Amino acid sequence: MRIDLSDQKILVTGASRGIGQAIARQLAEAGAQVAVHFNRNADTAQHVADDIRHGALTFQADLSKPVEVVQLFDNVLARFGSIDCLVNNAGIALGTSIDSDDIAFTDSWSKTMLVNLHATGLLCKKAINHFTTNGGGRIINIASRAAFRGDTGDYLAYAASKGGVVSLTRSIARAFGKEGIKAFTVAPGFTRTDMAEDFIQKYGETYVKSDIALTTLTQPEDIAPTVAFLASGYADHATGTTIDINAGSYMH
Ligand SMILES: NC(=O)c1ccc[n+]([C@@H]2O[C@H](COP(=O)([O-])OP(=O)(O)OC[C@H]3O[C@@H](n4cnc5c(N)ncnc54)[C@H](OP(=O)(O)O)[C@@H]3O)[C@@H](O)[C@H]2O)c1
Repeated sequence: MRIDLSDQKILVTGASRGIGQAIARQLAEAGAQVAVHFNRNADTAQHVADDIRHGALTFQADLSKPVEVVQLFDNVLARFGSIDCLVNNAGIALGTSIDSDDIAFTDSWSKTMLVNLHATGLLCKKAINHFTTNGGGRIINIASRAAFRGDTGDYLAYAASKGGVVSLTRSIARAFGKEGIKAFTVAPGFTRTDMAEDFIQKYGETYVKSDIALTTLTQPEDIAPTVAFLASGYADHATGTTIDINAGSYMH
């Protein structure tokens, strides 16, 4: 079996850093043309695109703003001509204490939902509309172990948003399979990225390591090959499924 994505154009959100960057690199290595989405880190995104080649281009959008979400998909479509696969990876994890005031809690909750769930839902909608007139396509949504296991008290919104991503993905798989659309969830556990560093600062590395069955923390490069496999079509009959990549820390 050989994974060859040379006939695929793939949009990866949040590809400037962390897991998204590793996914973009892996997909391009398999031959895909990648739309490298970023928000604030234009230089890093450009560096990724230059590095991975295969016609990769960068696209900026703040996914907390629905109008920019729509523009992102339309811009990629305009430049690439078509899209075969959407990888919703961009996400935020805002720690907010249950003791914070109600306004601060609501702000944090809303921002989390906008980026993690609303933007993902809207990009899925755009992709489904496109895929139905383009012979089908694949959606790979990056959720989290937190969707199944729950999270700490400071990350209630984060876990809730990722739970939403899981049911969104399952609904797409059920509703649009006949249109040739396949949808998958990848649920990482703790993975060594900037997002994880914030958590390590707060809870300590020992706490994080004590949670997993393996000896080393998961790296972004441990997530990316699964995404390439799902994009390849070899796993199409697993549509709707979730693949856990959490170093044996939680099975459900
Ligand atoms: N790391 C973990 O332990 C872990 C565990 C489970 C699930 N996940 C999930 O995996 C995905 C990637 O996480 P990561 O750890 O790689 O995160 P990260 O290192 O913090 O990178 C986040 C990415 O999302 C983009 N982003 C953030 N806010 C955005 C916004 N408002 N609009 C558009 N893009 C935005 C960033 O773009 P810029 O840098 O350009 O601003 C960046 O490319 C997320 O969905 C996360 O929930 C991570």
